[in-house]
Amino acid sequence: MRHNHLSHLILLAILSLGCGCQNSSLDIIEIDGNSIGDKIPPSLYGVFFEEITHAGDGGLYAEMVQNRGFEDGTLPSGAILKDGFACAPAKHCYSNDSINLFKIKWDEDKAMNAWEVHTADGSIAQYKVITNSPLDKATPHSLYIKLQDHQSQISVVNRGYWGMSVENGKKYILSFWLKSSFSAPEKVIVSLKSDKGELSAYEETKIKNNGKWNKYQTILKPEKTGNDYNLYMDFANKGEIYLDHVSLFPEETFNNRENGLRNDIANYLAELKPAFIRWPGGCIVEGLTMENRVDWKKTIGDPMKRPGEYNLWGYRSTYGFGYHEFLQYCEDINSDAMFVCNAGMSCLFRNGDYVEGKDLDAIIQDALDAIEYAIGDVNTKWGAERAKNGHPAAFPLKYVEIGNENVGPRYAEHYKLFYKAIKEKYPQLTLICALMFHPEIKQAGTLEVIDPHYYETADWFYRNSNLYDNIPPMYTSDIYIGEYAAIGNPSIYSSLAEAAFLTGVERNADRVRYVSYAPLFQNAHHGKEHLIIYNNETVYGRTNYHILKMFSENRPDFNLGTKVNIAIAPEQEHPVGQVGLGSCGSVVSYKDFKIEKGGEVLYQSDNFEDFEKNWKVSNGDWNVKNGMLTHNLSDRDGYIWLDNRQFDNCTISLKAMKHSGREAFRVFFGAQGESDFFMADLGSHQNESVIFGERKNGVSTSLFDYRNTTSIRTGEWYDIRIEIQDNNWKCYLNGDLSYEYSYAPLYRRYAISGYDSENKELVVKLVNGEQEKWKSMIKLDNVVNVGGTAKRITLATDSANAENSFDDPEKIVPHEDSITGVGKSFKMVCPANSFTIVRISCELL
Ligand code: AHR
Repeated sequence: MRHNHLSHLILLAILSLGCGCQNSSLDIIEIDGNSIGDKIPPSLYGVFFEEITHAGDGGLYAEMVQNRGFEDGTLPSGAILKDGFACAPAKHCYSNDSINLFKIKWDEDKAMNAWEVHTADGSIAQYKVITNSPLDKATPHSLYIKLQDHQSQISVVNRGYWGMSVENGKKYILSFWLKSSFSAPEKVIVSLKSDKGELSAYEETKIKNNGKWNKYQTILKPEKTGNDYNLYMDFANKGEIYLDHVSLFPEETFNNRENGLRNDIANYLAELKPAFIRWPGGCIVEGLTMENRVDWKKTIGDPMKRPGEYNLWGYRSTYGFGYHEFLQYCEDINSDAMFVCNAGMSCLFRNGDYVEGKDLDAIIQDALDAIEYAIGDVNTKWGAERAKNGHPAAFPLKYVEIGNENVGPRYAEHYKLFYKAIKEKYPQLTLICALMFHPEIKQAGTLEVIDPHYYETADWFYRNSNLYDNIPPMYTSDIYIGEYAAIGNPSIYSSLAEAAFLTGVERNADRVRYVSYAPLFQNAHHGKEHLIIYNNETVYGRTNYHILKMFSENRPDFNLGTKVNIAIAPEQEHPVGQVGLGSCGSVVSYKDFKIEKGGEVLYQSDNFEDFEKNWKVSNGDWNVKNGMLTHNLSDRDGYIWLDNRQFDNCTISLKAMKHSGREAFRVFFGAQGESDFFMADLGSHQNESVIFGERKNGVSTSLFDYRNTTSIRTGEWYDIRIEIQDNNWKCYLNGDLSYEYSYAPLYRRYAISGYDSENKELVVKLVNGEQEKWKSMIKLDNVVNVGGTAKRITLATDSANAENSFDDPEKIVPHEDSITGVGKSFKMVCPANSFTIVRISCELL
């Protein structure tokens, strides 16, 4: 009821846009102390950790040696090497039974990733990554080096994660394993040298030449500071050695734990005070193949014995930051843990293979074991293992998510089995279903929480701030927005778009009870788009980090009805431009193509006999044969454009048949060049849905509120009709309305408010994504004892493109001051490109 009441207020606000206040340039924000809205749970603002863009290795995990165990050349589990590709087995994909034959390019140099071997005389040293003398069977690779007579010295060099950062006065713990025979060198000289050859630390270690693997440990004490250091291990004289698990850690780690975390990054994340941490993914939970999924049991225990796994984001994870370290970190920073288990199926965008029967039972058991490891009694098998690993007490595991981004009836069946098994044993846990807004929720049994994800453009987020105000009645469970990010140019503009969206999340917090941005971490070697960016030396937060922190630090107990009356409504955009046809990774044919407006035929081509003359191919392989136009490639997208003609409101009709491929048909409209257009996307998301889409400035986004699940069958002619009427578009398949979408106007100003009962403060949040100041009148109803002075927290900058950077990491951060003249009605001015929070002391009537 509360929710409906608020929605009504918001609706009123929207209805009033542009109609009541045209004469005034002041927007009116009305807050009603009597209109108590949804409670905002403390669980709302969490984070999602996945090993992507070196989030753990080369990020949070403090290990400084990359490829420390020489395991990086290991193929993804379950794949075989063929013609330079790591190839997944031919198995049926769980979503549509296709055989994806997934493969990735595999470069055989990976084994020596981050390592080099030099000789002092410049000659080539003999060395190889081998498996015939394993230090441990789980980590069988080691580096074999043969020093020839004439070579006075060999240096084995590790470049770290794009250099190692060391500080004068600090200590670094180096450990490594060596095996050598009596004729081998007597010592190894370890040092840290910069790219310019400057020496910062130096130690000699005597070698036990007993033909066995021996572990060595030494402390390096740099005398210089810099971030371009490399680890050198120099061996003199002739002989043969085997080297493995070379590890270098700063002595100081987060909470000074062994095998610990980088202090700066761990603290930076801790400052967000996340209510929960989701781990370990993401797609890596699903894996390229079932064998490649994250197997949590291989991420615990002695780090030397952890095999790691190729992680589908392009590199091998050591899982040094494994399940235990994740749980420990949650405990350390007072966050609840959310564990994501594989649901018996690999990623449908990769191989998509799945297991059933006994094999599925084993995967369910794995999930139960993971839970037992986290919270089981020390007398249980996995509880005892936890105690053995140094933590007898239970960890704060509160949530388990069953799979990630899974779809379809097969997933629904698996989900039910996992749900029953877990709930029976652990009724106290909250279980999350990986389904988004899919009709299969009807087949999935009990749903506590579903997990929609959004990677969309900034403008999509501005336009969809109200998405959760009217959730269709069929979706009754709670909602966890497990992943969201405004993609495209990372800037204050996109961060404010996310903030606009978060106002809608907070306003509907009775249903949207959890949210986490993704991806969380990014080593700058991979770019600077995610939330927290670092190199080997320093860390900073993008503007969205600071905005999220502001939201979470200023979470009221409940919402208050807030109406935003925008004086001058933004102009409603509607499509004007070229029309085109396309195909997404599919072989398709088209015929009987027609564009009409108000009964008048504007263009018609039944058999595309005018193809050469009137159409322009911009991608793919197209030809006209047997009275139809065909796109012939299933490994490329196709694009063609009806040349030199612009259309606005119109109806496009055609017949279309899919022959083979991943997705199906695309009909473009309103195109202003190849980087800016709209489209009806029939067979989107691996042939799951019929929806609309948009490409703006070259960045694509799907346009849907709640996705349907209509897939396109092969070998059938479909009658397609697309009606474009201003901002309202309809797509019919064989005469039935398949999808309808209203392209919302682009508001960039939003406000919400709530009440903090403990501090007796009204908390108003204002997002201004415009490049001009936002002048408004705030009116407070049904409140008393309004303090004349209020605390204001502002994050603002003068350019929409601005963002924090290594050069200026605190360029755009929140600033606190106070405003005076606050009363039942007062004028508020928010700077251009800003997020502002005002905390007003008052009591509700
Ligand atoms: O955040 C990156 C990936 O995006 C996640 O692994 C996956 O869940 C989503 O598709």
